[in-house]
Amino acid sequence: MNIAIASDHAGFEIKTAIINYLKQKDFNVFDLGTDGEKSVDYPVFADKVSAYILAQKADLGILICGTGIGISIRANRHKGIRAALLYCDDVAVMSKQHNNANILVFGGRTMAISDIVHRIELFLNTSFEGGRHQKRIDLLDQ
Ligand code: RB5
Repeated sequence: MNIAIASDHAGFEIKTAIINYLKQKDFNVFDLGTDGEKSVDYPVFADKVSAYILAQKADLGILICGTGIGISIRANRHKGIRAALLYCDDVAVMSKQHNNANILVFGGRTMAISDIVHRIELFLNTSFEGGRHQKRIDLLDQ
């Protein structure tokens, strides 16, 4: 599975930890920046991962900013992107079952790496339910 990941400066440290986890699990990771703790603008990085997903260069995206909020807002402005801020374990499951999210978002200043890794695993081990949820997803992009 190909995963595209990016963060702003507030998510940089936890991005590094997530990449280490993903590589250990043999995922193919595209690290689209940022590459340090110098202040940058999160919309730029939301756009980079969104473009990878929309071009089908990656199967799943991961974005991190301080809270996960700004970077979610930007990613969700792209038609076809369904970015889900995984603020608890139940949401990690539901964001796959009901929303078939294609970008997972985390808060670098608000979440622990152990919770993030657990939520990524929950998401990956869950299936999209389709049916009425597919109809609703189709409506999102109209
Ligand atoms: C950066 O200071 C911070 O505003 C950003 O990472 C994010 O939390 C915005 O939603």
